[in-house]
Amino acid sequence: MKISIIGAGNVGSLSALRIAQEGSGDIVLVDIIKGLAEGKALDLQDARQILKCHYNIEGTEDFNKISKSDIIVVTAGITRKPGMTREELVNKNAVILKEVCAKIKEKACDAIVIIVTNPVDLMTYVALKATGLPPERLFGMGNSLDASRFANLISGELNIPVTDIEVNVIGSHGQGMLPLASHTSIKGVKLDKFLDEKKIEALVNRTVERGAEIVSLLGTASASFAPSAAIAQIVRAIAKDEKRILGVCAYLNGEYGLKDICLGVNCRLGKGGIEQIVELQLSEKQKQKLHHSAERLRQLIKQLPKTGT
Ligand code: LAC
Repeated sequence: MKISIIGAGNVGSLSALRIAQEGSGDIVLVDIIKGLAEGKALDLQDARQILKCHYNIEGTEDFNKISKSDIIVVTAGITRKPGMTREELVNKNAVILKEVCAKIKEKACDAIVIIVTNPVDLMTYVALKATGLPPERLFGMGNSLDASRFANLISGELNIPVTDIEVNVIGSHGQGMLPLASHTSIKGVKLDKFLDEKKIEALVNRTVERGAEIVSLLGTASASFAPSAAIAQIVRAIAKDEKRILGVCAYLNGEYGLKDICLGVNCRLGKGGIEQIVELQLSEKQKQKLHHSAERLRQLIKQLPKTGT
């Protein structure tokens, strides 16, 4: 299994390490910044003896090296600064992403592509249109990270291990995120049996703002440990044909009454990429929120720069 990671910043290189350690495949780390991917790859190779784990990783500036990849993870792009929303990155990252997509189309059009670049719901849509890949083979990372964050915050509030908490988060990986308290349970008992409405609302809001909270603390970077864990989880589900149901940003074609938009939903992932979109039963209010989130994305899609493809 050949896995290319485009973008050797914090998220890209940490993902490389996790994917390598999990044994999901051989890795090619690519970055246009001279020496960056190569330097990180050498550093990662040097860790193998200590980690007692013989993975293969190569770093390069040469996009030709992504050819014949089975999986491509795209993390390239600028990250937000304190006070910025993910949406404010849209114009610059759309241009970067279109260039990356042209390379993918040319060199590795049979790959399964996972978009991480923010704003991920919009960038996934842009990448789908730019590559022409089928939606089951191109989707975004977002909601499995948000779900992990929601579970972590619940765990802290209740002093219950995260492993006992089952959560579901759908919607956009941004302000239109829907951490679903109604679909969250602790060993089969609904969250509202443990916490009152006010406390749940505070946890939901904190989940939506978690990425920004971390950016404001770091100052010059965004989160990378949890995002890279979420990426490695998705890669493993595909590489090992696990058939797991995880939250990813998928192209919707009628699911939840929505069409021609990319939004976070639960999907069964295996060697074919998205093998099924698993719809949750939503209340009218939740459906409305999801449609509102989609509407907001449609407005932003209309404003996207019309460069390249
Ligand atoms: C975050 C980035 C990955 O939420 O969007 O930290």
